[in-house]
Amino acid sequence: MVSCIRVSSDVLVLGAGGGGLRAAIESQSLGAKTIVVSKSVFGKAHTVMAEGGIAASLGDVDPKDSWEVHFSDTVREGVYIGDWRSAEILSKEAPERVYELEHYGALFDRTPEGKIMQRAFGAHTYRRLCHVGDKTGLEIIQTLKDMVLHLDIEVMDEVFITKIVVSGGRAVGAIGIRMRTGEVIVFSSKAVIVATGGCGRIYKTTSNSWESTGDGIALAFNAGAELKDMEMVQFHPTGMVYPPGVKGLLVTESVRGEGGMLFNSKGERFMRRYSPKRMELDARDVVARAVYAEIMAGRGTKHGGVYLDISYKGAAFIKKKLPGMYEQFKEFAGVDITKEKMEVAPTVHYHMGGISVNPEDCRTTVEGLFAAGEVTSGLHGANRLGGNSLADILVFGRRAGVGAASYSRSREGAASDIEASAIDAEMGRIAAMFSDSDGSNPYQLVNELRDNMAGNVGIIREEKGLRAALDSINSIKERAQRVRVAGNMVYNHALFGLLELQNMLIVSECVVLGALERKESRGAHTRSDYPSKDRSWKANIVCMNDNGKIALRKDEVRPMPADLLKIVGEEVY
Ligand code: FUM
Repeated sequence: MVSCIRVSSDVLVLGAGGGGLRAAIESQSLGAKTIVVSKSVFGKAHTVMAEGGIAASLGDVDPKDSWEVHFSDTVREGVYIGDWRSAEILSKEAPERVYELEHYGALFDRTPEGKIMQRAFGAHTYRRLCHVGDKTGLEIIQTLKDMVLHLDIEVMDEVFITKIVVSGGRAVGAIGIRMRTGEVIVFSSKAVIVATGGCGRIYKTTSNSWESTGDGIALAFNAGAELKDMEMVQFHPTGMVYPPGVKGLLVTESVRGEGGMLFNSKGERFMRRYSPKRMELDARDVVARAVYAEIMAGRGTKHGGVYLDISYKGAAFIKKKLPGMYEQFKEFAGVDITKEKMEVAPTVHYHMGGISVNPEDCRTTVEGLFAAGEVTSGLHGANRLGGNSLADILVFGRRAGVGAASYSRSREGAASDIEASAIDAEMGRIAAMFSDSDGSNPYQLVNELRDNMAGNVGIIREEKGLRAALDSINSIKERAQRVRVAGNMVYNHALFGLLELQNMLIVSECVVLGALERKESRGAHTRSDYPSKDRSWKANIVCMNDNGKIALRKDEVRPMPADLLKIVGEEVY
C-alpha cells in the first residue's frame, strides 16, 4: 500500500475562504472535531475579492428596508430560476450574521450616529451593503481566521485534494497531497463540506485568484453529486483593462455605488440608452452587456474598455470610501482616480451554478457531503446581486456547519478508515501522470481552454460558438490524457496544473452543455440566436454523473408559496 499520513475528524471542510471558515466555526462550536484543508496558504482566499460589502437589510441607512424587499430583489434579479427558499433564508438571516461578525471583531464603517454604514449597489432597492471601505472581504477573512485560531480548529493549508472518497453511497473523507512535502494525506471523516469557491479561472480574463479552478465542483461531480445552473457565469461590468498584468482585476461596484459614472470614448454617459432609470446601478448582467456593446460598437477606449469616473467627488471622499481602488490604480496603472478616469471592461467574476444543495442544511445529493458558498447553486439563479455572495457564505456557511455536525453526530463512533484499495487506486491514477516529460505542458492546454471559453462562451453566446467550444474541450481532454509530468510530488507545479486542468475541463464542459441546452436569454446567459426569455425555460438544468459522462436533466423551478409570491408581487417567469 502507498505510504500516507492518516488524519481523522468528524467534519472535514475543504476550502478556507469565508464559507469554509464560517462552516468550520459552527461545526467545531457544536462539538464536532473539525479540520479545514485548503489549497492556498491560510488567510489567502478569493473572498477578499468581494470588496463592496455584505447585503443585509439592517435598515441603518434606509429604514424602509426589510427582509421582504431583500428577498424580492434577490428573486427578481435571479430572473426567477433561483430557489425561493434559499433567498428567503438569506434575506432573513443575513442581518444576524452581520451582527455576529461584528461580535467576532469585524470593524464596519459607521454612520454619524454610530450605526453600521450601508451603501448602494446595483439592483438593490435600498442602500444595503454593510462595508469596510472597499476591503470588506478582507475584513471578513481576517475576522473569521482569528475566530478559527481562537477555537483551535486544525487548518492544513497547501494541501491539494484529488478525490472525495465515497463508500457505500456515503462521503467518508478525501485524499490529498501536501504540496510542500509531496506527502499523501488521507482524511477520514464522518461528514465532508465542500467550500472551495468558484471557477473563474476557466476564463482568460477574470477577477478570480489563481485558486478558483472549480476543484470543488469537479470533486463533488466525481463523487456523484448533482450540479445545477452551470451555464450561469457572471461577468462583473468593471475589471481593469490595463496594464496587461492586471487585466481582469476587480474594480469594485462600490465605485458606482458611491456615484461613479460610465462614459464611452465619445464622452457619452451611455447607460442612459440601456437603463435610463437605474443607470450605472442596474443589475450586473445589464451593465456588463451595455459596456460590452459599447466596446463592440467601436466606442471603447484605446485599451479596449470604457471610462469609469468618480474624480468629481474629490480626493478626500475617494480616499476615505475607496482606499483600495485609489491604491490599486495608482500602483498598477499609474492613474490617480481622484483626478483621472479609470479604464474598465467586463471580467468573469462569479459562478451562479455549482453543486445542488438543500438550503435547510446544505446537504448535497450524496449522503454525508455538504457544500456552501460559490461552489453551490440555487440561491442566485440566473444572476447574483452584488453583496449577496458575502451574505451567502456567512448564512449558508453556518448552515452547512450545523448540517454536517448534526449528520456526524448521527454516525456512531469514530470516522471509519478509508480502505487501502481506494488509496491505492487514487495514487495509481496520479502515478500514471508521471514519466519523463515529452515536452507537453498542462499550462499550454489550460491557456487553450481559457481562450476557448473567452472566445466562445462569453457574455453573448450562440449555437455555432458553443459547438466549437465543445469540440475544443473534447480535443483538450483527449490531449490532457497524454500529458506526463517529470519529477516528484514536492511542489510540482506541472502536476498540480494537470490536476487543475482535469477539474477545469469537467466544469467547462458542464458550462457549455448547459449553455447549449438553454435556448433562451435569461440573466447572465444571453444567446444571440435566442434573444428572448422563454417561459418554458423557467427551469434549472441539472448535470448528473452518468458513469463519468455528463448527463442533463431539466427540472421545473419549485413553485413559490403564495405568501412569498405576494411579496414579489407579479406573475413571474
Ligand atoms: O464589486 C464588488 O465589490 C464585488 C462584490 C460582490 O461580488 O459581491
